[in-house]
Amino acid sequence: MPLVTTKEMFKKAYEGKYAIGAFNANNVDTIKAILAAAEEVKSPVIIALSSGALSFVGEEYIPGVVEVLKKATVPVALHLDHGKKVELCKRCVDLGFTSVMIDASSEEFNKNIEITKEVVDYAHAHGVVVESELGAIAGIEEDVQVDDKYGHFTHPDDVVEFATKTGIDSLAIAIGTAHGAYKFKPGTKPQLRFDILEECEQKLPGFPLVLHGSSSVPKSSLDLLNQYGGKMPEAIGIPEPMLNEASKHAVCKINVGTDLQVAYTGAVRKSLAEHPENPDMRKFSQAGMDAIKALVEDKMKNVFCSAGKAE
Ligand code: G3H
Ligand code: ZN
Repeated sequence: MPLVTTKEMFKKAYEGKYAIGAFNANNVDTIKAILAAAEEVKSPVIIALSSGALSFVGEEYIPGVVEVLKKATVPVALHLDHGKKVELCKRCVDLGFTSVMIDASSEEFNKNIEITKEVVDYAHAHGVVVESELGAIAGIEEDVQVDDKYGHFTHPDDVVEFATKTGIDSLAIAIGTAHGAYKFKPGTKPQLRFDILEECEQKLPGFPLVLHGSSSVPKSSLDLLNQYGGKMPEAIGIPEPMLNEASKHAVCKINVGTDLQVAYTGAVRKSLAEHPENPDMRKFSQAGMDAIKALVEDKMKNVFCSAGKAE
């Protein structure tokens, strides 16, 4: 099964009412664990590298990663996550990524269109697909003064013009998810604006939407990490039933980063604490990779429902 774009994956996911997980990798270990999970449960998968992750891995290693992913037994897309600069997106296209995200969401609407279109023109000429973002996917929301019911979320009235003028292949929308472990104020109930999702979906029928900031930060993961010396305060993530619900709508791609970090670090801490005599770095690395593999398999099987969809 070759390294693919997300085009076909999203078409099938849209029609089948499930979603593809885009899991953030930070090193080759993470890539191996994510891929192993996808192959185990026979799910299509998106391996996402942010610009920070790309620098950490080293761009010179990417051609090797691309060669490995080409031999995967399930459809895999290699995706640039939150590319802030046109040049970076173009470089990733040249490196063999099959999907890039241009994130010019902090620019005003027309500038966002202009920047996104430049990436789309280049990527499409090279057979690569593009995701862009409209609206503000923030951290814990500040007390923003808003002028209408959409506030700083994606305005459904904008999505058709944005998708048409840019030519993008998928659109990240802001409906209340947020990046990192601390998505909602302590003591508050997690909420997503499904009304906005439904409006966007009606305006753009058949078009794949994307959710960022979708870690659920399970208490068991956080407890394990803290049991072995971590000091992470309690966190409120996106409840898994909400992600499952979104996957039945037009959401075809769900991004998860923080959950992998918490799972990996907790398992590494535990392994180091339980084997203080053992300096072999493969021991604790393997524990972290096993934790990521289990987490990704669980999301694919029980939350995104993409398990068994690799054909
Ligand atoms: O682009 C990456 C994702 O939006 C990850 O967000 O760390 O909150 O899961 P998360
Ligand atoms: Zn994101």
